[in-house]
Amino acid sequence: MTGVQQLMDNQGSDLRTAARRAAERAYAPYSGYKVGAALVTETGHCHVGANVENASYGLTICAERVALFEAVIGEGFPARVQRMVIVGPNSSNCAPCGACRQVLAELAPDAEISFQQHGGWVTYSAADLLPMAFSPSDLTT
Ligand code: THU
Repeated sequence: MTGVQQLMDNQGSDLRTAARRAAERAYAPYSGYKVGAALVTETGHCHVGANVENASYGLTICAERVALFEAVIGEGFPARVQRMVIVGPNSSNCAPCGACRQVLAELAPDAEISFQQHGGWVTYSAADLLPMAFSPSDLTT
């Protein structure tokens, strides 16, 4: 394993730990499905999020968007996100939802996004997750 791979793997496992810790803070009394997300930016800073539900169900916000918004508030736009790790309860499948994919496309276009599928970890780019995303340039064409 090269030094860079080792660094990436260490960073990946740190992000998994941070995402799992964040998931413990999720407020998910309605679904019971606690999600955590952790990301690292080019500056080396880590930002985390967890899902926060509401009795008016549609107002729920996902873990991924909390972490992305926290990164923008903490570092300003663009907070250059390199990696995001998402964890669901008990190693369940936890692919980001469509709304989060749209936000990832705009706020973390260069990120590698890792989550579990069928017991294993998978990694995709934001463009893989949402081809043909609506983008800022669409507003001016
Ligand atoms: N949820 C997330 O936080 N992220 C995902 O990737 C999928 C779903 C949340 C929303 C809701 O609080 C709960 O999981 C069940 O849908």
